[in-house]
Amino acid sequence: MTVSTDAEWFKTAVFYEVLVRSFADSNNDGIGDLKGLSSKLDYLQWLGIDCLWLPPFFPSPLRDGGYDVADYTGVLPELGTVDDMRDLLTATRERGMKVIIDFVMNHTSDAHPWFQASRSDPSGPYGAFYVWRDQPEEYLDARVIFIDSISSNWSFDEVRGQYFWHRFYAHQPDLNFESPRVLEEILDAVRFWLELGVDGFRLDAVPYLIEQDGTNCENLPGTHEILKKVRKVVDEEFPGKIMLCEANQWPNEVIEYFGDDDECHMAFHFPVMPRLYLGIREGSRASISQILADTPAIPPGCQWGTFLRNHDELTLEMVTEDERQYMWSEYAPDPRMKCNLGIRRRLAPLVDGDRRRIELLHGLLLALPGSPVLYYGDEIGMGDNIWLQDRDGVRTPMQWTEGPGAGFSSAEVDTFPYPLIDSPGYGPEVLNVAAQQADPASLLHWLRDTLAIRRDRPVFGRGDFTDLGGADAVFSFVRSLEGTVVVCVNNLSATAQSVELDVSAWSTSAADVIYGSPAELTLDAELLRLSLAPYAFCWINLGGSGDA
Ligand code: GLC
Ligand code: CA
Repeated sequence: MTVSTDAEWFKTAVFYEVLVRSFADSNNDGIGDLKGLSSKLDYLQWLGIDCLWLPPFFPSPLRDGGYDVADYTGVLPELGTVDDMRDLLTATRERGMKVIIDFVMNHTSDAHPWFQASRSDPSGPYGAFYVWRDQPEEYLDARVIFIDSISSNWSFDEVRGQYFWHRFYAHQPDLNFESPRVLEEILDAVRFWLELGVDGFRLDAVPYLIEQDGTNCENLPGTHEILKKVRKVVDEEFPGKIMLCEANQWPNEVIEYFGDDDECHMAFHFPVMPRLYLGIREGSRASISQILADTPAIPPGCQWGTFLRNHDELTLEMVTEDERQYMWSEYAPDPRMKCNLGIRRRLAPLVDGDRRRIELLHGLLLALPGSPVLYYGDEIGMGDNIWLQDRDGVRTPMQWTEGPGAGFSSAEVDTFPYPLIDSPGYGPEVLNVAAQQADPASLLHWLRDTLAIRRDRPVFGRGDFTDLGGADAVFSFVRSLEGTVVVCVNNLSATAQSVELDVSAWSTSAADVIYGSPAELTLDAELLRLSLAPYAFCWINLGGSGDA
């Protein structure tokens, strides 16, 4: 690998989001921890993961899954120590893997010493660290995000006798980035983790850094200025480390977060995700094709992050009202499945555990532009528990074995912070890593094999994307890079489909199937014809040279 290719490792990497608390417990107190995660790196390497993403593991009252940070440079004791984190980084590096961690810069927990100082000593050094007002009158055009739980972005603090601003829960006061000292403190924490050896950050909730009356307080120019300052420090002091932004926004707004190759290296593509579920339910590519057509080109040094699920609800913020109602009616038949503007379910139960649709969704994820970000447990088709509070139902312990405690911990199961899944067909006794590793026909092996096909072909990470259009039920597109041309054909419908694709724009000497089992495959006069079974997909190499 050349040096420049290496600096852009994130363009071809496969990411894996892993909740430390829920993955593996090393000291048998019932709580997953950093040492436990370290002990599972062989598994993740075997699966084909390049980079871990660790959601917050910092000291926290855990009233929002750790996104309520009480100390930016520590480790929550039940998860381990800073030394454990250093050991994890060493162990991942030895395996050629990378680690990015969440960084929550928009807000802290109200338990953070800065907030405690700010409320009790308004004229002291932390007095201006948060957004305080005598009356809750400003920024009223900003929407409420956690609509299930809060009704206003202002809360009154009895101690200071003023209102404070918060875009999320009332126990998560927003930091005041109008104060330069706030950014200095944040940058010190950024430096702390980069010095320890992390490879970058997933920047949580960044659209909301700066407020301005009369706007919706999202994506404001001042917010981008802050992020550019963070990027400058990263580039100057820690070149090669990356910033991945969480901005749940429309494509034309998200691309602003790439800047001119001087802001974030990566950004999640939120709008495409729900449309994949929509597409396979409607048997129509219309909505997927449309959002990709609406997605502007990104700067050369950047990459999308794509995903099917994560630790939050399946968000429906970036769809039309009609699409949202359709998604809720099809995928959240029980009202309990709804959560804020989304759905509190995991991938496998969303598609009734149907292997064909689980595979198709992954086929789309792995072939569309962007680096795929997998969510722990989805590789074995883990289930959910919609009755747990908030979004906890998709954060239950990883199922390693069929044994008691699912191989996650040997503590008493009723001491686990989140209970093991026990819904029929999804409990550890039928669904676990050990059983699937032993079964070459399992979902786990399928995903590993498919990741390996992708890994050998940089075209999936770096190539151009062309939507081939055509029949509504089949989503066909080309990925191309320096003479390598791969046609990806996805049958979104429940019936068999035949397609005829015009590939005359590319050189086409032969059609080699690199994934899938298309029937009646022919290539003549630059027309590619094939048939696909219900929900089947295939990847076909059109005889380029740079295949590997
Ligand atoms: C992000 C996180 C979510 C958290 C929120 C507030 O959206 O993904 O889990 O609740 O930020 O920090
Ligand atoms: Ca533990």
